[in-house]
Amino acid sequence: MNTRRYSARSAVGPITISLSAFCFAFLVGCAGVQPAGEPGPGRFEIGFIGDQQYDPESEAKFPHLMDEVNRANLAFVVHIGDFKGGSSQCDDGIFKQRKEQFDASRHPFVYTPGDNDWLDCYRPKAGGYDPVERLAKLREIFFQGNQSLGQRKLTVKRQSDSPQFSKFRENVRWTYGNVLFVTLHMVGSNNNLGRVPEADAEYRERNAANLAWLKEAFDVARREGNRAVAIFMQANPLFEYRLPSRRERALRVRPAPKRPFGFTDFMSALEVEVLAFGKTVVLLHGDTHYFRVDKPLFRSKEAGPRDWGRLIENFTRVETFGFPEGHWVRVIVDLNDSHVFTFKEQIVDKNRFGKP
Ligand SMILES: [Fe+2]
Repeated sequence: MNTRRYSARSAVGPITISLSAFCFAFLVGCAGVQPAGEPGPGRFEIGFIGDQQYDPESEAKFPHLMDEVNRANLAFVVHIGDFKGGSSQCDDGIFKQRKEQFDASRHPFVYTPGDNDWLDCYRPKAGGYDPVERLAKLREIFFQGNQSLGQRKLTVKRQSDSPQFSKFRENVRWTYGNVLFVTLHMVGSNNNLGRVPEADAEYRERNAANLAWLKEAFDVARREGNRAVAIFMQANPLFEYRLPSRRERALRVRPAPKRPFGFTDFMSALEVEVLAFGKTVVLLHGDTHYFRVDKPLFRSKEAGPRDWGRLIENFTRVETFGFPEGHWVRVIVDLNDSHVFTFKEQIVDKNRFGKP
């Protein structure tokens, strides 16, 4: 998301989850344990970052953040987009610099684009670009071959392998430790819907690709018998706007803005897939720069009068820290744990408020 809207959009309070000393000792004790019959490691950790490097101060924080991420023992890192401010320059130089910074990661590094990285480039202060042209350049620089960024690489499957979706190189998936990981190119700023006709056309094409990629990911996870699905994307799809009314009242949610909503189709598809899969699904996003772990998905009206408003228990949402906070989230994946995922906030000491 861009800097201007930062403080206005969070409607749900934070639920921070810290591991108790006992739990942490238990998890460390489990390192390397592989449950019988499960392909790949039974326990591993992931670095989850995004919404960084907005201004000179947050630019200075990024090396501290990456130092800590590099020191951690991680299977891979995912950056969910927004590698610059929404009104800062969108030239090729900044794209190439960010690519070099991401490639310097000690761990395999997967990046999915955010709105600041191309959509907001129409702004005069960002250079007054055509966002679609900037998106094409972003794809050319960041998404080549079948491997991730970083010093170590991760082999990924790209949606562009299908001729029908040849443009969508940025949508990738991979499996690790019998968990399926997938990125969806969904962005803040209402997913580019409702600003100008050209943006609507871009939204429609990308939305169709995202829905197909989401469905394919769940089809593969079912076929392969994966234990869980983790979806990474930049946009906060604003679960608050489809809460059952008593939850809306309890959480003081304001009415949804009157405009075509850029996440309607995604939310419906997500509900269908999460219910059909039946096992653990996590959605990891950024955009609103507000660390939280919660369970915001409820059955919609389409589920029928008996089920409408019931919690969908096998779904969890996690949002990582974002500008001006230079912190990250450690995702612990443990196939011996019935929930599979644990999320631990990682406060980078050098990036604490008030540090010189
Ligand atoms: Fe952002």
